[in-house]
Amino acid sequence: MKTKISVIGAGNVGATTAELIARDGLADVVLFDIHEGLAKGKALDMTEACPVWGSPSIVTGTSTFEETAGSDIIVITAGFPRKPGMTRDDLLIANADVIKTVTAGTVKYSPDSIIVVVTNPMDVMAYAAMKVSGFCRERVIGMGGLLDSARFRTFVAMEVGVSAADVEALVLGGHGDQMVPLPRFTTVKGIPVPELIGKDTIDHLIERTRTGGAEIVGLLKTGSAFYAPAASAVQMVRSILFDEKRILPCSAYLQGEYGFSDVFAGVPVVLGRQGIEKIVGLSLLPEEMEMFGRSAAAVRAMIDTLNFS
Ligand code: APR
Repeated sequence: MKTKISVIGAGNVGATTAELIARDGLADVVLFDIHEGLAKGKALDMTEACPVWGSPSIVTGTSTFEETAGSDIIVITAGFPRKPGMTRDDLLIANADVIKTVTAGTVKYSPDSIIVVVTNPMDVMAYAAMKVSGFCRERVIGMGGLLDSARFRTFVAMEVGVSAADVEALVLGGHGDQMVPLPRFTTVKGIPVPELIGKDTIDHLIERTRTGGAEIVGLLKTGSAFYAPAASAVQMVRSILFDEKRILPCSAYLQGEYGFSDVFAGVPVVLGRQGIEKIVGLSLLPEEMEMFGRSAAAVRAMIDTLNFS
């Protein structure tokens, strides 16, 4: 049986995610949206691109949860994107309702799936998806740290004048303005970044990373970033699907790790066919720990406003 991935939300992030999966023939894709025509139209368009891509994937569009049945992975991108001046947190209430609906609707038909949450504010939406699905923490994973790290990698590469492929970075904590970029764990071909770039410049790159999403919102004016978010979600999908066991910064439900419990926050995890197979512990310096704590507390405060018991 072919692998099946349902992408919930056929907007910019969802459609781009579906496209990347289908283009590389990773799986059959069901593209789900509340707007049926949008999902069906984009799915048919992608299906017609498959012969050109040389891909065996079949892409189906729907607004019916039944058609997502038997999915191995569900990528949730449904919701509302940021508009200029909005923070990710402003999206909280509206998107929580969407997440509750689509999680309940999809897990009913795919009880053994792994959920990847992209919708913002992502750490809180991942918490909502875990509560509503009743899934164990290994099977609900948030996409945020990978994107934040990709942005930090890009800015470091631009500064040093090297390929971003040679830059590794770790950005932990919540996927919000208080995210925690860690220059100590950021390297250019193994060389720690503090040996290559001065502190003031690193601070500037960190600030640009923290506001990286807003920078794109400000340019687009009609929506938020989607190429890098979709690419990041698909890297997670690949690691799960092919049991690659990549170490990727993802949002995970913490049960004492990094000193926090009952909250989602970005930490390095090993992603394989079982979902989160391990949370990698790091010894953070007191100031890094303080930043992580502030970020996790901000996520926790948003979770509290949603009244999950
Ligand atoms: N059920 C299914 N689809 C829904 C629902 C719902 N209840 N509510 C909204 N949608 C769909 C919309 O119809 C739209 O097609 O979600 C899609 C969202 O697409 P965009 O508006 O293009 O937003 P996008 O840029 O894809 O961002 C989606 O990902 O990165 C995050 O912050 C971003 O939370 C946002 C999400």
